[in-house]
This record gives sequence, C-alpha cells and structure tokens, in this order.
Amino acid sequence: MIEHRIENLLKQMSLAEKISLCHADSKFTTAGIERLGIPRLAMSDGPHGVRQEIAPDSWAPAGWTDDYVTYLPTACALAATWNRDMARRFGDVLGAEARHRGKDIILGPGVNIVRTPVCGRNFEYFGEDPFHVGQMAAEVVRGIQRNDVAACVKHYALNNQEWNRGSVDVIVDERALREIYLPAFERTVRAGAWSVMAAYNKVRGQWCTENEYLVRHILKGEWAFDGVYLSDWGAVHSTDGAARYGLDIEMGTHDTDFEGFHLARAFREAVERGAIAEAVLDDKVRRILRVMIRTGMLDPERRRTGARNVPRHQQTARDIAAEAIVLLKNDGVLPLDMHSVRKIAVIGANATARHAEGGGSSEVKALYEITPLEGLRRKVGRMVEIVHVEGWRDTGHEADQPADDPESEFADALGAARAADAVLVFGGLSHKYDQEDVDRRDIRLPGRQNELIGALVAANPRTAVFLIGGGPVEMPWIDRAPCVVQAWYAGMEGGSAMADIVFGDVNPSGRLPVTFPRRLEDSPAHAIGQYSDVQCEYREGLLVGYRYHDTKEVEPLFPFGHGLSYTTFTYGNLTVDPRTLEIGVDITNDGDREGQEVVQLYVHDAASRLPRPVKELKGFEKVTVAPGETVRARFRLTDRDLSYYDDQAGRWVLEPGEFEVRAGRSAGDIRLVQRFHYGGPPPVR
Ligand code: BGC
Repeated sequence: MIEHRIENLLKQMSLAEKISLCHADSKFTTAGIERLGIPRLAMSDGPHGVRQEIAPDSWAPAGWTDDYVTYLPTACALAATWNRDMARRFGDVLGAEARHRGKDIILGPGVNIVRTPVCGRNFEYFGEDPFHVGQMAAEVVRGIQRNDVAACVKHYALNNQEWNRGSVDVIVDERALREIYLPAFERTVRAGAWSVMAAYNKVRGQWCTENEYLVRHILKGEWAFDGVYLSDWGAVHSTDGAARYGLDIEMGTHDTDFEGFHLARAFREAVERGAIAEAVLDDKVRRILRVMIRTGMLDPERRRTGARNVPRHQQTARDIAAEAIVLLKNDGVLPLDMHSVRKIAVIGANATARHAEGGGSSEVKALYEITPLEGLRRKVGRMVEIVHVEGWRDTGHEADQPADDPESEFADALGAARAADAVLVFGGLSHKYDQEDVDRRDIRLPGRQNELIGALVAANPRTAVFLIGGGPVEMPWIDRAPCVVQAWYAGMEGGSAMADIVFGDVNPSGRLPVTFPRRLEDSPAHAIGQYSDVQCEYREGLLVGYRYHDTKEVEPLFPFGHGLSYTTFTYGNLTVDPRTLEIGVDITNDGDREGQEVVQLYVHDAASRLPRPVKELKGFEKVTVAPGETVRARFRLTDRDLSYYDDQAGRWVLEPGEFEVRAGRSAGDIRLVQRFHYGGPPPVR
C-alpha cells in the first residue's frame, strides 16, 4: 500500500521536483510540491524538548511567543533511570509536542557512545555501554513515532567528541566499530526509526555524509534501513559522494543559497548530464515519501494532533528526574526528616541556575524550570527555614583559570553551614562547560568549588553535595564528604525531584550510565593518549568505559551502574537454563522502605578465540520491591548477546563453550555468578 502510493507519486514528478525534496529550503524545512499535495517537511531539534522556532534563514529565534515546551531531563539523566518505561514516556512527550508544534521529524535521540568524559555533548547521549544505550534509545524512538512524528537517530557515526568534529578523521578497528559504536544505531534502526542523521566527522578517511561502508553497506545494506538518511547541518562536502553513497537530504547551516547546496542545482545538473543515474535520485525520493506517508503527512487528516505543556508531560518530566538522580554516597545524611530539621543552608550557584536554554542545538524554551532552591522551598513551606548563599559563581572559567568567586561569599557560605542543621550544596557544571561544538579541557570542578566543598563538609558533617552536569567530575574531597548525589540536567521539574529525594518522598533508584574515573588520565582514551583533533585513532578498541577499567584493573571512583538506595537489597537463587538462556535472580528488600533495584546482568566468556572484555552488560531490569519481600527478576539472553564480531570472517560468531552470567548492582559490585555451557555438544565431564 505504502509502496504503491510512493510509485504513483514518483511517476508524476519532474526532475526539479524530485531534487527539491533532497535539500533544505530553509533552516529546518524542505520544499513541498503543492500540485501533488506534498507539504513542506518540517524538522526541529531535539533531543530533550522541541526547540524554539528558529528564523527561516538564520539561527536567530523567530520571535514566537507560543513556542514554549516541556523541558525533559537530558538523555544522560534518562539513561540513569535504567527504566525502559521512562524512555518510552520520554519519547511520547517529545513526539506529542513535536506534532503539536507542526514538526514531522524530531532530531533525536542522540546515541553516540560516551568514549571520553570531556565530550561537550555527553549530556545529550545515553552513556558508555552499547547494550544499555540501544535498549533505552529504542524505546525513545518507539515513543516518538507513535505520534506520527519521525525520530532521527543521530549522529551516525563515531561523533564521540566535539573537538574538531567538523573535520576529525576517526580510525577505528572493525571489532570496536561493530561491538561498541554501532549496536545502538542498529538497535534503533531495527526498532523502526524512520530517519538517521549523518555525523560531521570522517570515519576511516570518508565523510559520514558520503561514507560508502557505513551508509550503503551497513545502514542501508545489512540493516535494511529504508528511511531517510539526512545530513547534520552543513556536513555535506560533495555532490557526487553524497548522492552516490547514500545521503538522502542535505540540511544546512552556513549558507542560505539553498539552490547552491550540493544536493540541489549541482545534483540536478549531474542527473541531467547522466553523470549520476536518475535511479539514484529516485531511491532518495522513495525514502523521503516513505517517511511522509508513515508520519501521515500525505493524508488529508493526520491521525494525531499532538499535545503540549499538559500536566501529563510535566509529570513525566518529574518522574524521569526522580528516577534519574543517583545517590553516589550516603553515610546517613539523607533523607532529611522535615520534622526534626529546623534550618537548612542551601549553597551554590546551581541551587538557582536554570539550564534549559543552554548547550547548543538542544536548547529548550521551557514553559518553566523549577530550580533546586524553589523545589525545596515549595516542599518545606514554613516547616523549615532555608538560607541560601551562592558561595561560588558560575563564571564559565575552568578550574585552572583564576577564579573570581568573591571571598565574602565564601565566608558567608561557611557561616551559613555552621549555623544550619543540614547543608545542601548544589555544585557541578552548567552548559558553559557541557556544550555543543567544544569539549571540556578537564573534568575538574570549575572555580573554587573543590575548596568550598572541602570547607563546608568540615564546617558541618551533615552535608549533602548535589552535582549538576552531564558526567563525571574529579572529587578530591570524596573521602571527607559523607553524602554525594549526581543530579544531571534534570529538566523542568528537576528541583521538585531533588526535593523529593532530599526528604525521602522518593527513594533514589538512578544508576550511573557511565564510569566515574578518579581522574581524567584514568579513562581509556586519555590513558592511551588517543584523544586528538586531526586523526583520532581509537586504539583502546573494545576497552571503552568499564570494559577498560575491569580488564586493566583500574579502579574507578564510582563504577558503571553504581547507585545507592535508602534501603538495601540482597541477591539470591541465580539460575540459568542453558537451553533457552532464560535467567532468573531473586531480589530481596532487607530494609524498611520500598525501593527499586536495577538488576544488572553481565556476561563473561570463559574462553574465546578472540580477546574479549572481562564482562559485558547484556541485561538489566528495574524491579520494585516492598520491604521484606522478594521479587524475581527475569531475563532472556540471545545468541547475539554471547557472540563477538569476528573481523576476519566479517560476521558475528557464537563460539560454543563455557560462559558466566554475573548478576550485580554495578560493574563493580557483582553479587552472584553462574557458569553454564552453551552451543555445540555439552562438555564431557
Ligand atoms: C547538531 C545537530 C542538530 C543540528 C540542527 C547540528 O549542529 O550537531 O545535532 O540537530 O545542528 O540544529
């Protein structure tokens, strides 16, 4: 039916009309063809809220007054929930709001792997583990697309740093490509993503917008992707390469001469000359029409109208934030009891900072954004006195630049801490650091924060440090600080969610989607000196994130998957059925309050022809357990979960033999191990 409609339209189109669908005619649209009932195709960023309306031919805001939207927690926060339902709800909000704003494609989710903690866009990504990223992002895609809006999975591929993203050439070996960097793209494509965005960088010497291997061979070949491959803004370098190697739509930034785009006039002339076959163009047009039909664009009435700024969306933002917050360390400081605490000192610029409008293309014009201070004040009302002192200013200076936090503020913060029953510090980063197009220079806390936190925990032992930001920072004071919380960029309801955590209305259940190293030099790309701007060779291969820390025995500050709760859990009765690969494990809540546990399943290959990381995540389930109760978490592994990519044979290989499943609370806290034999004849005992 869809294919029939496509062919019918295609045969009525002139060459010029076909070409007009393949390139931008404004910052975020392509042209329509009125006589055939084809409207303009409208896109928007993405990925944690629909971006404000942008002028048609510049980056300036269009000046609308009714383009406010729901600001969701960013992808690193969503990832920290380890909850697929949350990912589905996230996508659903994004899709519904995009639809309501008249958009056909929302530019997200971003599924690039966090290879280095300094990447400026890590806050837009889901973390370091390909399985985890793929599982979460696939649900986002499904959630978006049920609203007649296409997801656009980005940035394909290997855009793992912002430093020189427009020209860096990534050299990666085949196994790392297949086992680390591509699985999340593959998973989202197989989940049915209708569009994919090409990255700015080169891979093995070829631009991603014209990369024969990545696009023709893998994406459109092996994975049979039949949707649209569109460029990142201004990422196209030639007509011939882009046309032949699989780019379908060219979107742009630098120029408003849209006819001068590589896939505009020059493309038409090449087809007219016979230099490029018309069949190449027809394939692109078919794909574009397919997305238009799937989203209902060509129907007289679209099935979905969308919704925006409705309470249900705000509740979703709050629920995700509450499940995203990670309790890293807690020596009895949290939760606070509202009935016994009289006075709380709230310290730090991030207590009052709003983050929605920062970060680059993912900026959001939020309907509102509740800061931590507001969230706390709303929660306690008149019950508790709250004193706020900034203590440090967010100047945008890196740690090693002169700080201009005033001395008096510093002293005031310490005074307030001494006089309070409890201290809540809101430190960390902002989008002055977590920013598109630039990487951070280090992972130290900016300004005098380290000094201040050290002094505050000395002044008042009942201090909890909340860190805002897209990833790890060094914590030289960690042994002295009794309580540390990672709160990410938690969206428009972040302040409410943090207050819920502080007072125990929500029991923390977030888990780290990335390893927190002790120092930058401990993280693999930096440890091996392979973070560079012209040609970046990923010599660490498969050893990204915890795979490196595990295999090389480099102890992290906090391991991948880590996160505490206000209750405790025990693991029991881990079973594996070696025929079906069904796995079960009992989780018992030994505490006195309900909690959610993220049960993580890692696979270890006991003997293998090719070297493998010590263990790899292949399953996770978030279970809710009442006090004193036991819940069984169930998993089912696939053959692929036990396989490696054989770079010589060019395929996934399952080597029969001994494997282990390791069930635990994090990559650093394995509770139970079960060995089993899988594939081929059973071992002779
Ligand atoms: C970013 C994309 C974004 C696009 C449009 C680019 O600079 O890399 O993620 O979707 O701009 O704003």
